[in-house]
Amino acid sequence: MAEPKENLQMEKIVSLCKRRGFIFQSSEIYGGINGFWDYGPLGAELKRNVKELWWNAMTRQRDDVAGLEATIIMSPAIWKASGHVDTFSDPMCDCLLTKKRFRADQIEPQSGTVYKYSGAIEREGLKTVIKESFHEEGATFGEAYTKVLLTFPKDKRDEVKKKFGKENMTDEQFIMFFFSAEFKDERLESITDGQSWLSLELLQTLPIQFPEKLPKSSSEDYSVLVPHGKPPETARKTARLYFQQKGYKEPMLLGETRSEIENTTRFNPENGSLLTEPRPFNLMFKTYVGPVESEDGVAYLRPETAQAIFAQFKNVLETSRQKVPFGIGQMGKAFRNEVTPRNYTFRSREFEQMELEFFIKPDEAVEAIHGSVVTVPETGHPGEPQPNWGWQAWHQYWVEERVRFYEGIGLSRETLGFHRQTAEELAHYARACVDILFKFPFSKRDEQGELKGEELEGIAARSDFDLSQHQRFSGKPMGVFDEELRTAWGKLPKEKQDDLWRRYYENRKKYLTKMAKPEETPEQIQKQATEDANALAKGNYIPHVIEPSAGVDRLILALITNAYSETTKTDDKGKSETLYVMKFHPRVAPVKAGIFPLLKNKPELVTKALAVRDLLRPWMNVNYDESGSIGKRYARQDEAGTPFCVTIDFDTLGEKPELLDTVTIRHRDDGRQERVKISELRDFLLSKVR
Ligand code: GAP
Repeated sequence: MAEPKENLQMEKIVSLCKRRGFIFQSSEIYGGINGFWDYGPLGAELKRNVKELWWNAMTRQRDDVAGLEATIIMSPAIWKASGHVDTFSDPMCDCLLTKKRFRADQIEPQSGTVYKYSGAIEREGLKTVIKESFHEEGATFGEAYTKVLLTFPKDKRDEVKKKFGKENMTDEQFIMFFFSAEFKDERLESITDGQSWLSLELLQTLPIQFPEKLPKSSSEDYSVLVPHGKPPETARKTARLYFQQKGYKEPMLLGETRSEIENTTRFNPENGSLLTEPRPFNLMFKTYVGPVESEDGVAYLRPETAQAIFAQFKNVLETSRQKVPFGIGQMGKAFRNEVTPRNYTFRSREFEQMELEFFIKPDEAVEAIHGSVVTVPETGHPGEPQPNWGWQAWHQYWVEERVRFYEGIGLSRETLGFHRQTAEELAHYARACVDILFKFPFSKRDEQGELKGEELEGIAARSDFDLSQHQRFSGKPMGVFDEELRTAWGKLPKEKQDDLWRRYYENRKKYLTKMAKPEETPEQIQKQATEDANALAKGNYIPHVIEPSAGVDRLILALITNAYSETTKTDDKGKSETLYVMKFHPRVAPVKAGIFPLLKNKPELVTKALAVRDLLRPWMNVNYDESGSIGKRYARQDEAGTPFCVTIDFDTLGEKPELLDTVTIRHRDDGRQERVKISELRDFLLSKVR
């Protein structure tokens, strides 16, 4: 079968990434470790640029966001409060044949015929029993075998043998064949009438009924799914393999039944074998803090960077002198023991996140202060933040801000997609979540054949869930006091106060009921919700949060697949060669400029080129290269994705006096060349790469 185009494309990208030092398999010399990846020299630069751009856009260039750098291992109580200890799991199942592990929720539904077997016996074992009991008058097996031969007198036996292409079978072999699953085949229906077939079926179960007579047999059920129209032999082959790997030599399958099935996810899509029942698998990596490996020392590698932000919310609020609405940004490593790491670096077990928790007032507080909460359309940028924005406007704002960020580093809107999570998909505490997708070559396609895209970043409106949880579990207050709210509340008409109070009360009650500990009574919950609503009336509330959460590694993979392009060049002699160009946006490109002396054996050119390199080095990552022809050097830089190449030639040295101290800049994407003064070179390049 021809390899799908997108897989070929990914193979080429993976190969280029290795060859040029973007991404390597972790621990490669020891055969690698699944789900872990290293970034080589170019990849490390690319990653650094991406993180720096995110950090600048999300924290330094904003007045309303502060940064945080927390530890990877934190108190396990944090993960209890956040729900990760109890619910951060994926449903996992294993292929019964190959033991390959799958995420049950990621298996594509399949349709076909299910062949079910009620066990297997070893051919040799059955043979022995047949031999021993064949002549035993009255013995169960002897009777059975006699009956088989009587049911199939010689002419019928010959007919059956012919139908199955087994003309040379002996009587003994015929009986063996009768007990095998293959025997039950629609081809026999023309030979046996309905009546005798029924008794034959009963007869066939004898080896199952008398397992003690069989030296080695299994009565374990096993099923195989084969696509509609495929012969049963496909299923039998798989089933034989299954019993073989369970230790049965030459297994003969027993009790084959078949049924049609639609849209099942219970079978391995690669070989049709039955899977184990799905079971939850917690994705957090567990470790022990301190010298003793005891339950008291259990800790987890963080599965997301977000929780540290919630845990440090009060400290950051107090030290940064911020006021709600404001955000805390953090980026760093996260670890998830993914059931099935896949698609290169897309789903890894160690990865980096860039997360912002943007804290906002509850809508009731905004309404109390400003009279109403502004409504915004579900798409499009709502503009500069306004004081009367509720969670919907903030959510929409962050979706659009993040899209602008991606556009600014070379991912056009056409390469992105959006998925607004449905009510069923949303976490119970979330009010909305929009996933920004990138159309990777391995993404699934929609009905029109268009790439749908895979999640690059999720922007969730998480209500006041996280801070509320940490307040309840730690016993430390996570609320803020808002003087503006207190003053405004006092001026509201009683009717409005009651309306806002009731709405806030209902929201708090809903949350408290959902997350109640077993010992908490409805009365206690109502009391707490009443206290919370009373606190709102006095200007106190737990902030709500909008969370844009992006993965660094997924973004790197998106940038790499987006940048990848290849062309075929044919020379005068008709020899063709494939050229690879990584068309990175200059802002993210690992190397910003290649610096070349035209000839390496001309010391004046070399000295000048090194001086140009040193001039640019404090400002950007440049790469000095003097080996090979200029064409070869361009090709090397193209593969690395370097947007500009600067050549120092004899004109630079003043061969044409009017060109003294100028250099040629060659643009990667269109091959255009222009002459620039060395004195203007730095600013010229900075204007493109920043
Ligand atoms: N705090 C919310 C949170 O962690 P998430 O959707 O689980 O939400 C956010 O993760 C982002 O982190 C994803 O959009 C993705 O870019 C990245 N990410 C999650 N799991 C990943 C994995 N196993 N490998 C690489 N990136 C991953």
